[in-house]
Amino acid sequence: MVRIASIQSTPEPGSPTVQARAQSLTMEGMMLHRPIAAVCAALLVCAGFAQAPAKKGQPNVKKQSYGKMPDGTPVDLYLLTNANGMEAHLAAYGGTLVSLTAPDRHGAFADVVLGMDTLDGCRAQTAYFGALIGRYGNRIGGGQFTLEGKTYHLPINDGPNTLHGGPLGFGKQLWQAREVASAEGPAVEFSYLSKDGEEGFPGTLTTKVVYTLTNKNELKIDYTAVSDKPTVVNLTNHAYFNLKGAGEGDILGHEVTINASRFTPVDSVLIPIGELRAVKGTPFDFTAATAIGARIETDDQQIKFGKGYDHNWVLDKTGAGLTKAAEVYEPKTGRVLEVWTTEPALQFYTGNFLDGTIHGKGGKVYPRRGAFCMETQHYPDSPNHPAFPTTELKPGATYHTTTVYSFSAK
Ligand code: BGC
Repeated sequence: MVRIASIQSTPEPGSPTVQARAQSLTMEGMMLHRPIAAVCAALLVCAGFAQAPAKKGQPNVKKQSYGKMPDGTPVDLYLLTNANGMEAHLAAYGGTLVSLTAPDRHGAFADVVLGMDTLDGCRAQTAYFGALIGRYGNRIGGGQFTLEGKTYHLPINDGPNTLHGGPLGFGKQLWQAREVASAEGPAVEFSYLSKDGEEGFPGTLTTKVVYTLTNKNELKIDYTAVSDKPTVVNLTNHAYFNLKGAGEGDILGHEVTINASRFTPVDSVLIPIGELRAVKGTPFDFTAATAIGARIETDDQQIKFGKGYDHNWVLDKTGAGLTKAAEVYEPKTGRVLEVWTTEPALQFYTGNFLDGTIHGKGGKVYPRRGAFCMETQHYPDSPNHPAFPTTELKPGATYHTTTVYSFSAK
């Protein structure tokens, strides 16, 4: 937020001044020069950048620099501004949502997603802040699955399992990016071609993801993919939300409703055991609005396995189209997030593995449970559970899903 605001006040985004400032805010830089960075951040906050009132006007898209890959390839950062002054920064690296502002009940905007000021910082963190996740979001048990009689072995990156497409999944790849026209609001399309065999998955997969910041204060994400061989696909976005503002403490007071009467209980390494268990009478019942912190320390085996919430809820779908999956209300600011999706499930993760060691945008500390994720998706480990909705994609078919994160205040 702070560096981004500083770019807006600078005429030439690629200028040496901006690059030098950006470099001084890398994660490693933060560790080594924390006092200097803190002073810089404080100065920028004093200059009024951090909470600058948003200006209403023409929706638009601006291209800036997020940094360079180690081989010198420049990485673009797109700034989308909608008619109400809401802003989203999206980086071509990982198709990452770097920042997203939303108004509180008084109309004051704050950046409500965790992220990193620079590409170097983004590449160094391992939490998948705001990244596009593929080819298979969530876990594949034992890093293997069998498709049409052939067993595929994937690289392991989470205990015995493959998480979020493997160590070099889509969130760690450089995507092609371009502005696209949309009547709904400013939009950017990211595309990525994943080669046959990449991270162990069969088939060349061509993926396109369009982010639209609609003039109704929604971030809409449209995912499409086609493959030249049978494969498995489960795409999602890994935004970490804190409706008080990124780096403004924990999310335990946020009140959550999830439109799901069942969830998929897991084993100790977070692989579904195959059962669809009723949430009724468990700490997983969010059918009525409940504070995240109300039951997160319950003496419950499932809570213990996740070190909090890190589970897949089976949505009570009312049809095949876009249906409401969840709503989150933050009482202090009045901000409301609604999640709508065409997907059958939602991974609700409460940032249990954040530990305060990451200093994010503006040098802010991201503590344990300093954010929550609502990853719309198919169930984890579906390729190994024939009874779960299939994640298989055949040649000639098109994978298409939509998720909308809608913001308001009350
Ligand atoms: C997983 C968590 C994991 C987090 C960051 C979530 O989707 O469920 O277990 O720690 O992503 O990788």
